[in-house]
Amino acid sequence: MESLPRLVVMASGNGSNAQAIIEACADGRLPARVVAVVSDRLGAPVLERADRAGLPAVHVGKRAHESRSDYDARLADVVSGFDPDFIVLAGWMRLLTMSFLGWFPSMVVNLHPALPGEFPGTHAIERAFAEAEAGLRTSSGVMVHLVPDEGVDDGPVLATTEVTILADDTLAAFEARMHAAEHQLLVTTLADLCTRRLSHGAPA
Ligand code: GAR
Repeated sequence: MESLPRLVVMASGNGSNAQAIIEACADGRLPARVVAVVSDRLGAPVLERADRAGLPAVHVGKRAHESRSDYDARLADVVSGFDPDFIVLAGWMRLLTMSFLGWFPSMVVNLHPALPGEFPGTHAIERAFAEAEAGLRTSSGVMVHLVPDEGVDDGPVLATTEVTILADDTLAAFEARMHAAEHQLLVTTLADLCTRRLSHGAPA
């Protein structure tokens, strides 16, 4: 148990992806251990999910008048205290500066509900659906990528899945399929990373 890769999951809201990670660790599909769940939002459902799973649920909120870089340095301090091998941004909706990212090279993994280069930022699912309604696309997708720098939902791609937008889709139905695709892709991609880490050890 102690030798499994250590994951810190960071999320701002609902936490269905955090939940997928927690469950996959528990049932052995993901050879890793969630050592903490961190949220920037007090009362975020993801913190209750962590609590219910018996995991440290940590709120690190930005203080009034605190700069982004000071906040990120404080966040880095909290996260590094859990000695993570990987940090998973699973619905973390705050842009991270190098004050955070600089501490964790090749360790930060982000999930985004769009394919590389498409719909960075918020409301990616809604924006893809609106384009489909306008006849501009028939699919979108999900990606998992590394976060080397401050690029928004951008960085070396680890995995993608395409999700079809059906002619008679509702936004709710499309969204549900996107989330199901996310839960699966995030878990399998993390399982690949962690399996490689277990067989090769930490990078030099
Ligand atoms: C997910 O769709 C995730 O891809 C998205 O936030 C949602 C969180 O859902 N992230 C982004 O848009 C990042 N730019 P969850 O809280 O139920 O896991």
